[in-house]
Amino acid sequence: MTAFPYLLIIHSWLRWLVLATLILSLYRAWHGKRSGLPFTKTDHILRFSTATVAHLQLIAGIVLYFISPVTDYFMHHFSEAVHERQIRFFGMEHSLVMLSAITVLTIGSAKAKRKKTDAEKHRTVVVWYTIALVLILSSIPWAFSPLTARPWIRW
Ligand code: HEM
Repeated sequence: MTAFPYLLIIHSWLRWLVLATLILSLYRAWHGKRSGLPFTKTDHILRFSTATVAHLQLIAGIVLYFISPVTDYFMHHFSEAVHERQIRFFGMEHSLVMLSAITVLTIGSAKAKRKKTDAEKHRTVVVWYTIALVLILSSIPWAFSPLTARPWIRW
């Protein structure tokens, strides 16, 4: 019995948690910046939780990469697989863009923590988390995606 189908379900669900925490962090930072609100303990918890959920997704993604039949085929038949859109999506585009998104998010979180003023903290979260969100949204295999479609929810 392989862990693959279970991890795929976890990875699929975690996507929603990543998006929810990211969007909530962004909304609070944007609102906080516009209204001149302090960067509260709740904002810190949210900033940190968003990065933590993304790191869990990163770990799940890396493990999946080594046990998925799709990426296994990609790695072992590279010259043919690179021309097959659906295989290449997980072998290259999805993994590299998501890796970059989580790196951006991590840098943003660390930078926000170190900023001196509350306004700077809010601004840093807005800028870096927005870039991460755009990258993530662009590389999720949405059910409507022409690149590779996967279900909205996997059971
Ligand atoms: C925020 C980051 C990420 C999100 C939101 C995300 C989202 C997803 C989603 C929605 C799927 C489809 C699951 C399904 O079939 O129902 C998937 C599949 C997959 N992801 Fe990610 N992912 C992320 C990061 C990563 C990273 C960093 C890697 C690798 C380094 C990775 C590797 C994979 C692999 C290998 C598959 C499955 C391919 C297969 O079906 O065999 N993911 N991801």
